[in-house]
Amino acid sequence: MHLDNALTKISWSDFNQLSPVEKTPYLMRDNWPYHALIAQQFNREMLDDLCSLATQIRTIAKTKQGSLFLQTLLDDKRIMLYFAQPSTRTFLSFASACQILGAKTAEVRDTSTSSEIKGESGEDSVRTFSSYFDMIIMRHPTGGFAERIAWVLSNSTRPIPLVNAGSGKDQHPTQALLDIYTLQRSFESLGGIEGKKIGFVGDLARGRTARSLSLLLQHYPHIKLYYIAPHALQMQEDILKALEAVNVPYEIAYNPKPLLPELDAIYMTRIQDEWDTDDNTDPVDNSVFCIEAKDLPLLKKTAIIMHPLPRRNEIDTEIDADPRAMYWPQVRNGMWMRAALILSIFGRAHELLAWE
Ligand code: CP
Repeated sequence: MHLDNALTKISWSDFNQLSPVEKTPYLMRDNWPYHALIAQQFNREMLDDLCSLATQIRTIAKTKQGSLFLQTLLDDKRIMLYFAQPSTRTFLSFASACQILGAKTAEVRDTSTSSEIKGESGEDSVRTFSSYFDMIIMRHPTGGFAERIAWVLSNSTRPIPLVNAGSGKDQHPTQALLDIYTLQRSFESLGGIEGKKIGFVGDLARGRTARSLSLLLQHYPHIKLYYIAPHALQMQEDILKALEAVNVPYEIAYNPKPLLPELDAIYMTRIQDEWDTDDNTDPVDNSVFCIEAKDLPLLKKTAIIMHPLPRRNEIDTEIDADPRAMYWPQVRNGMWMRAALILSIFGRAHELLAWE
C-alpha cells in the first residue's frame, strides 16, 4: 500500500465520525491540501499563496510564449472530470484550467452514459477512473460522498487526489476560493478583505457556495457577515456555530434593502428549488431577495455585487454594465484560481519560477 497521506492510517468508520475540522489533517500532504474537499482545510497563508499563484498564472498566460510555457507544467498528467450534477462554470473553468496547464482531460457528465446506468456504484466508477487518471475532479449530489471517495482513493492500490467541485448542499470549496480571489482583487486598493461587511442574500440553507465562503472569510480580521434570507432558507446552525467559535460577528436579516448602504460586498444567490421535496415546497416569496437597477444608488461607490451564478431574477441584467457588478469577472477568476489549486496539489507551483 502507498502511504500517500494520513487517510491510510484511519478506518473509514473512525474518519467518518470526525468533525470537519478534525478531518482536515487527514486530507493534507506536506501541510497543503492533497484531497481538496472542504473549506476548513484552507488557512490564511494558503489563501494568500493561492491568490498570488492565480495572478502569476494569469500574468504569464498573457503572451503566447507564456501560454506555451504553462502548458508544459502538467503535460505529464491526466485529469478526470466526473460531474454527476449539472454544471456550466465549474466544469468549464476546471477544463480550461487543465488546458492552461497542459493536462489531458476526460469527462463523465451524465451518468446515464457510463456503466452507472448498469448498476455500477459511484464508488466503483471513481475507483475505475483512478486506474487511468492522476487526479479526479468530482461534483456529486450526495453530501459527504467526496469524503468517502477520498478515503477510498487513498486506501486503493493507486492513490490519487480528489478535488470537490460541489458536494450536495454542504460545500463548494473551489467556488469559495475563487470568491476570495475576487474579493481580494476588488479590495486590493481598499485595505483588502479585512474589515469589510459582506452580505449573503437568497438561499443560504442550500447554497453550498455561501456556506464554504463563510468558512474562508473567518480568516480575515474585523469582517462582519450578514445573512439575508427567508426564514426557511436561512444560514444553517453549523456554519453560525463555526463563526461563533472564532468570534466572527454576523447578523441575521430578512430584507436586504435597509442593509444595502452598509455593505461592501453583496453576494446574491439563487433559490435552489431543485432541492425542494414534497415536504418542503412551501412557496417562498423571493421577490425581496433581489437587487434591481433602481437599488444601485443605495450602494456604496466601492461596493461590489457578486453571484456564483447561474442567476434567475436575483440580479437585474441592467446591472451588468455597472462597474460594481463583479459576477462576470468572478466567472473568469475561477479559471485562474482552479489552475492555481491543481498546480499546487501536484506540488508543481515552484516550477513557475522558471518563467523569466
Ligand atoms: N457557480 C457554479 O457552481 O456554477 P455551475 O453550477 O454552473 O458550475
